[in-house]
Amino acid sequence: MSDRLHTLSGYFHEYQKSVAQPEEFWARIADSFHWKKRWSKVLQWNFEEPDVRWFVDGKLNITENIFEKNLYTLGDRPAIIWEPNESHEEVRTLTYRELFVEVCRFANALLSKGIGKGDRVIIYMPMVPEAAIAMLACARIGAIHSVVFAGFSSSSLADRIQDCQAKAILTADGNYRGSKKITVKGIVDEALEKVSVETVIVYRRTGQETFMQSGRDFWWNEVLEGQSEFHKAAEMDSEDLLFILYTSGSTGKPKGVVHTTGGYMVYTKYSFENVFQYCPGDVYWCTADIGWITGHSYIVYGPLLAGATTLMFEGIPTYPHPGRFWEVVEKHQVNVFYTAPTAIRALQAFGTEPIEKYNLSSLKVLGSVGEPINEEAWHWYHTHIGKGKCPIVDTWWQTETGGIMISPLAGITPTKPAYATLPLPGIQLSIVDADGKELHGNSVEGNLCINFPWPSMIRTTYGDHDRCKQTYFSTYKNKYFTGDGVKRDHDGYYRILGRVDDVINVSGHRLGTAEVENAINEHPKVIESAVVGYPHEVKGQGIYAYVICDMSNRSEENLIQEIKETVSKIIGPIAKPDKIQLVPGLPKTRSGKIMRRILRKIAEGSLDAMGDISTLLDPEVVEKIKAGRK
Ligand code: WT7
Repeated sequence: MSDRLHTLSGYFHEYQKSVAQPEEFWARIADSFHWKKRWSKVLQWNFEEPDVRWFVDGKLNITENIFEKNLYTLGDRPAIIWEPNESHEEVRTLTYRELFVEVCRFANALLSKGIGKGDRVIIYMPMVPEAAIAMLACARIGAIHSVVFAGFSSSSLADRIQDCQAKAILTADGNYRGSKKITVKGIVDEALEKVSVETVIVYRRTGQETFMQSGRDFWWNEVLEGQSEFHKAAEMDSEDLLFILYTSGSTGKPKGVVHTTGGYMVYTKYSFENVFQYCPGDVYWCTADIGWITGHSYIVYGPLLAGATTLMFEGIPTYPHPGRFWEVVEKHQVNVFYTAPTAIRALQAFGTEPIEKYNLSSLKVLGSVGEPINEEAWHWYHTHIGKGKCPIVDTWWQTETGGIMISPLAGITPTKPAYATLPLPGIQLSIVDADGKELHGNSVEGNLCINFPWPSMIRTTYGDHDRCKQTYFSTYKNKYFTGDGVKRDHDGYYRILGRVDDVINVSGHRLGTAEVENAINEHPKVIESAVVGYPHEVKGQGIYAYVICDMSNRSEENLIQEIKETVSKIIGPIAKPDKIQLVPGLPKTRSGKIMRRILRKIAEGSLDAMGDISTLLDPEVVEKIKAGRK
């Protein structure tokens, strides 16, 4: 692994090189991959459009870089270790050779159903190896996958099917999540009452009774019957779409973030190896769901491109007991463990007893992702899980960035609690003030932007390029705007302060306030609503909804319950408001704009410092809302 950084001075040196000569820098890294045809130009870009192309004219298949490139050297190494929901159920291990066969067979099965290059395929599945196989099989034939987190509702699923005009859905009969058994195919069927696809392939996980529509629905094992164990990888262009992943923004419906083949491949492997300092033979475990970008980049593509052993866990941290994570660490001798602050805080609440039962001495590196990690959780993680000897990599990135942008390199970059520390070589950050003026030097605070392209960056929002331009490239000229606030301290270290737009981060999951409001407004008794985030001990941020309702013949309690259910049905349980306050009115300016700043203040309990409310249409409403605070 020649691209690997080993020392802090090496990091600084590489960083300088990556800024001075970005094309040479990335070409050297990309050269270690297998290209069917080498690129003619490393990078072509303009942020105005935006139009960004990496490894122009290069031809490749990402799965050839996972399999063919490595089979001789690591064919018998475990690629995926699967730990089921129940600890007594059988573990499944797939070596690189075995995974390759499964991917080829499933690729052939997809082709036999008429699915091919450029077709969009929705993957709506539990955390089973078949979900990864499905992604890789799509990549193998050049179909574009769009994984939808299995916790999303049927109407969220239908929206995504519609938006990307999916040809097929890959799914399962059911899903085990802790003590719950969820009917997955039933949700798919509900979605397919509103929109249609040609083909549904159903993996049997729970064995529950399942409706199958003849001619449309097929069992996974049946479509695999008789399929050849080899498939010749489709030749893809560097800039061919690899996948679409929907994510929430501050306005409207979730948008389909588009990632392309060559750049995403190069960046996910590069960042995986450098951030986690993965060593051959290590067992690596990322606890995310494949439905999020973390699962794409750091359960599937990054680790597999690096020849790593990646553990996939079907269950949840607290089932059947709050020591489940640590049980899995001991059982599989996990060396690198990557999770979210929300999980750490949830487990912290159970004390150290559930940890003490297990031997965690295999752990070498700990990771954190998804939201700012508070200092208390950082110290708890460091002391009780890492036993004071494992570096913590606090990795900042986004669905749109495709890979980790700011993070310590494990064991190399000195860490500071709650700091994501420094950008990876190749990543050129800037901090701007409200007017877009770049703030140079240290000890500054402002909005986080990225000044120069990186290989795994978002290319467009599917079907609506203008939305991509408006959202990320228009706020500040010639910069990608992240939506996050940030501080650069006296050492030049970065600390992420959280979103500065109308996005709430609930347990590391992104939700737009507008999206939640739209769902609340679907309830027939709701007249208007306003949603804000507020500090939540475990989730990081909770959802606080202020709702104006027609109260006739209804009890407050019933209405609140019904509104929660409405949101759960329209988006999914993750979007259910933690607190709903029925209010007589909302603080609005004379032009009708809701003053969210005031609502945020009330939600977080800072009732005295309201700031200037003289511009409000009806300043008295503020007192009424304060009085009824939940
Ligand atoms: C937003 C992106 C990246 C995969 C998971 C979430 C927040 C992410 C950190 C971190 C502070 C973080 C940011 C970012 N975020 N990682 N280490 N420290 N904040 O992906 O759903 O696209 O959300 O998550 O606010 O913008 P996502």
